Amino acid sequence: MRQTAQAHDLQFELYLSETAIQVRVSDLGKALQQRYAQQHPIFLGILNGAFMFTADLVRAFGEECEVAFIKVASYEGTQSTGEIKTLIGLTNDLQNRHVIVVEDIVDTGNTMARLMPELQAQQPASIALATFLLKPDALLHPYLPLDYVGFEIPNKFVIGYGLDYNGSGRQLAAIYQLIGH
Ligand code: IMP
Repeated sequence: MRQTAQAHDLQFELYLSETAIQVRVSDLGKALQQRYAQQHPIFLGILNGAFMFTADLVRAFGEECEVAFIKVASYEGTQSTGEIKTLIGLTNDLQNRHVIVVEDIVDTGNTMARLMPELQAQQPASIALATFLLKPDALLHPYLPLDYVGFEIPNKFVIGYGLDYNGSGRQLAAIYQLIGH
């Protein structure tokens, strides 16, 4: 496995190996299986970053379910812009359904803090959040339902496993952390 990665002008170093990721995602899938088997939940993946995590998580879950993707972008470069664009692509009826929102990373939590009430308004039977990464030191919304967290990481920018830096780095199977800064 490569030890470093480059995205545009920035250099990154290996932080979470592909194996560590696969082991952890498999555990999360099993935990979800315990909670949701027979309940035909809807996994709601947040594009673009969560496409890879969603695919692996749903496979690890391995039970009957639905999968849908929605888009809410709030990020440019390596700093949150704080601006949150509107939700696109939600066509599923969530009423009385068990919903698992699947996110790549919760950083400030602004995106999820804005999205969760919008989803709640549809009166799902339950709603949980599965995030691959969490930056606890950046979190501004501690009340978010962080039921399923892959890894807690320091407040440093990362790429790989679906996460990008200005569109670059999503294809990497491991997580790479920005060097320096
Ligand atoms: P939040 O609204 O501040 O929690 O930011 C959430 C979104 O910012 C995530 O869905 C990512 O798209 C993006 N993001 C936050 N931190 C990183 C990072 O370290 N690498 C890549 N994207 C990030």
